[in-house]
Amino acid sequence: MAKIIAVAQQKGGAGKTMLAAQLAVAIAATKRVALLDIDPQGSLAAWGQLRASQPRASSVVGLHAVSGWRLAATLDTLKAGCDILIIDTPPVIDSDARRAVRAADLVLIPLNPSPVDLWAAEGTLKLAAEEKRRTALVFNRAPAASRLRKRLEAEIAARRLHLLPIALANRVAYANAFADGLGVSEAGPNSAAATELNALAAAIMELL
Ligand SMILES: Nc1ncnc2c1ncn2[C@@H]1O[C@H](COP(=O)(O)OP(=O)(O)OP(=O)(O)O)[C@@H](O)[C@H]1O
Ligand SMILES: [Mg+2]
Repeated sequence: MAKIIAVAQQKGGAGKTMLAAQLAVAIAATKRVALLDIDPQGSLAAWGQLRASQPRASSVVGLHAVSGWRLAATLDTLKAGCDILIIDTPPVIDSDARRAVRAADLVLIPLNPSPVDLWAAEGTLKLAAEEKRRTALVFNRAPAASRLRKRLEAEIAARRLHLLPIALANRVAYANAFADGLGVSEAGPNSAAATELNALAAAIMELL
């Protein structure tokens, strides 16, 4: 049975879809990975379509898009056929997002390192708490050091929330790789983006 990661954050544009795609490619180097896009925006599915004809795509990532009444059955089928299932959720808390969180072993919450973004994540944190799911916050588009980042780290620690030890910086490599249907490790195996992304994937795998 697969371990399930739901990438969730009520705030739009936090990096859920980018993170889902990047993690899938990184983890697929050693595990059977499937991606499930339950966001009607369909950005992850679009990335998957590009990837299907991308000769530089080195790892195999199954990609499925579904929402509504078919979600529960699709989750059951996918769970049985891979090691890691990553679900990209929409920036809303609706019944599908709740189903995804309920199914997850880990709810991964990307956020910019600013208190405003933690406030925006409260709904997702509350949902995960209601469903008794484990959560991990991950800083995305993070400056190496900033007053706001330090303040937020202190607030996260005080609330005993789990913050992953690897943050992703703001790098055009993420946007470029996504636009080409690739992971950063495929677009530039020795890039700074690939190095930090692989480290993040390893930290997440340790939690599962
Ligand atoms: N670390 C990063 N560096 C540079 N660009 C990034 C980074 N993370 C995300 N982006 C870009 O920011 C935009 C928003 O990211 P993404 O679509 O993953 O957010 P999202 O949370 O899925 O948004 P939505 O809530 O609309 O689904 C995309 O263009 C993406 O390529
Ligand atoms: Mg998205």
